[in-house]
Amino acid sequence: MDINYVEFRRRIFTWYRQHSRSLPWRCIGDKADPYRVWVSEIMLQQTTTKTVEGYFDRFVNRFPTITALAAAPLDEVNRLWEGLGYYRRCVQMHRAAQEIVNRFDGVFPNKINDVLNLPGIGRYTAGAILSIAFDQRQPILEANTIRLHARLLALKALPTQKEANARLWDFAEAILPKKNAGRFNQALMDLGNLICTPQQPQCRHCPVVRFCETARLGLQSEIPCLKAKEEKENRTEAALLVKKQGKVLMIRYPEGVRWAGLWDFPRAETNAEQPNKIAADQGFCERLLLMTGRRLEPGTLLETIKHTVTRFKITLLFCEAVDHGKIALPNTVKPYETKWVTLAELRHIPLHSTGRKLVQKVRLET
Ligand code: ADE
Repeated sequence: MDINYVEFRRRIFTWYRQHSRSLPWRCIGDKADPYRVWVSEIMLQQTTTKTVEGYFDRFVNRFPTITALAAAPLDEVNRLWEGLGYYRRCVQMHRAAQEIVNRFDGVFPNKINDVLNLPGIGRYTAGAILSIAFDQRQPILEANTIRLHARLLALKALPTQKEANARLWDFAEAILPKKNAGRFNQALMDLGNLICTPQQPQCRHCPVVRFCETARLGLQSEIPCLKAKEEKENRTEAALLVKKQGKVLMIRYPEGVRWAGLWDFPRAETNAEQPNKIAADQGFCERLLLMTGRRLEPGTLLETIKHTVTRFKITLLFCEAVDHGKIALPNTVKPYETKWVTLAELRHIPLHSTGRKLVQKVRLET
């Protein structure tokens, strides 16, 4: 179907004037602050607006500028991110803030290539920041707009497939107005979120239904095409509570592994069938030895938590453990950073949300 872009844009803007969502990172009146737009867009990657609403104000109040964020210790930044998940986003944002201070005097760059070169910023995020904060004519494509555009075009292929994705980007660019591209992009996201929903889209209320090939064909439940959900694999992990003189042993995940930069109770996968067999799992004890440089002997089970991480359904067993002290490791093995912390310190160091749940089970004799 041929789309009359002038009419399409007019209808989008009219709808947005009446239905825009009021979100804490949106500003009314004055131009948006690129820093706030950047923080919100990073938080909104793989996370719903509802979850982000609880984090955004706290984060920008504590770090009101790029310079403040760059100067803060990573532990503190990660602590405020705790519970949002995908922690790499936070580590990369902190690093990008330091780059902006070093290379751009703390002022968010407004050239697309400079923005794309910052850690953690891809084509979508760059387009969102430049359009919303600088009113540049840059397209965006995220979950809501992928669904909306795939339906407008009646795209039959998976939106992640190369040619289909290129087609979506071309469309996202073609429909953009010369002015107010940021407002237009936000309107499209809201339309995708409020009307063009994954299930039972409200086509009767859609301002651009007349341009929608999917609505014309009645294929709303087949488009967009979705990837088959892969089965999650079951996996058991054990985390150890190792106590000494009113403190507990914690490890910090290094670069390049799951939860890089976060602290945790020493934790690894186990193939023990029952909690009381963990001590006999040689592989588990060896993994913990390489991680901590200490021989740890798992004991009483304190708590069982079930959670999912990407492809895995994890049963996490939290056990007390006895510390048999340091063991010399070969030079080629580099254990993780470890430290003994008090309960008060545990409140301040950044943990994964399962680690935070385990903290409630920690009782320390002082
Ligand atoms: N999802 C990603 N970015 C968004 C934004 N700026 N507004 C609403 N939803 C979004």
